[in-house]
Amino acid sequence: MENILVTGGCGYIGSHVTLSLLKKGYNVSVFDSNINSSRSILKKIQILSYAHKKIEIGKLSFYEGDIRNKLFLEKVFSENSGKGKKINAVIHLAGLKSVKESINFPEKYWDNNVNGSINLFNTMLDHSCFNLVFSSSATVYGHPKSTPIHEDFETKPINPYGLTKLKVENVIKEKFCKNSNQLKAVILRYFNPIGAHYSGMIGEQWKYCSDNLFPNILKVALRKKKFLKVYGQNWPTIDGTTVRDYIHVMDLADGHVAALNYMKEEKSHYLILNLGTGQETSILELIKNFESINKIDIPLKFMAPREGDTPTLLADSKLARKILNWHSTKNLSDMCKDGWKFAQQCSKGF
Ligand SMILES: NC(=O)c1ccc[n+]([C@@H]2O[C@H](COP(=O)([O-])OP(=O)(O)OC[C@H]3O[C@@H](n4cnc5c(N)ncnc54)[C@H](O)[C@@H]3O)[C@@H](O)[C@H]2O)c1
Repeated sequence: MENILVTGGCGYIGSHVTLSLLKKGYNVSVFDSNINSSRSILKKIQILSYAHKKIEIGKLSFYEGDIRNKLFLEKVFSENSGKGKKINAVIHLAGLKSVKESINFPEKYWDNNVNGSINLFNTMLDHSCFNLVFSSSATVYGHPKSTPIHEDFETKPINPYGLTKLKVENVIKEKFCKNSNQLKAVILRYFNPIGAHYSGMIGEQWKYCSDNLFPNILKVALRKKKFLKVYGQNWPTIDGTTVRDYIHVMDLADGHVAALNYMKEEKSHYLILNLGTGQETSILELIKNFESINKIDIPLKFMAPREGDTPTLLADSKLARKILNWHSTKNLSDMCKDGWKFAQQCSKGF
């Protein structure tokens, strides 16, 4: 298994995944419509991978297209086979990810995330590509009854974005894994990826809007926003602000490489794994850490709690540690330091 198609590979997580794969010697074909990214990121990935010259790095190619375009997907799979580089596995990250936008435009999210994924999976099977890693999200759990959240907890998304993720998980399980006992799939449910590559060259860029906390901290740090809105100060948590499980994006990226390694050796056809650190961090703790490591003030304004918000979301990641032999290596200070380095270098993206 050496030729990997990464959908959404120009995006925040996908660019880090692509880099991790190249460093491990995989050949990577990135497939992205660039609806929320730019192809210019590929040059940076290439530069960063060349920094690892002591090892043999993989080759990178790029296809600009939409996963809903079946003909173009067909072409990509056929072209690679024709060159003797048959795609052996797909890491599927392409998708729209704004919870707020999904509430306003649920059909757009369904079409892009669900119909696009089904198109991709059908094309994979048509080309005998039987290994899939899918980017899912902790949002599938909705309001869990307790934390830490284990993979077998009830799934009950509370917004259209989360519903699209759960639908794709179910489609993989019910339609593709059951009908084709050759397809192996690892579903990765991410918790809260933040930070950037330590070089500061790649990170989270937003073409449109972001409702995530960390990009908004960066905007305030860059003085593109006057203050950070913090929603609610009376949650039943350590300091009244919501608690999340933040994970460094490079650790998350390495989790995808570990999932590929697992699939090479195991026969399991469908596996769901949480990817988080299991460390609780409140918003105020995150801000304090950011301010102290980067020596910069983040003015705050407390707002009313957002409807549908959850006080604490924390992963039980024991299964991923055990099965993938993977664990996070970076701490909150690394996330804050690397994220800020990226924002300073690439402030146009904010
Ligand atoms: N960032 C997070 O906090 C987070 C948390 C949980 C899950 N996820 C999931 O991880 C995946 C990657 O997230 P990200 O943060 O890197 O987002 P991102 O927006 O930075 O990257 C997604 C990429 O997919 C591309 N894309 C979107 N629709 C496409 C389509 N129809 N065809 C081809 N390309 C398309 C975008 O241009 C973008 O480059 C997404 O599926 C997201 O839902 C993200």
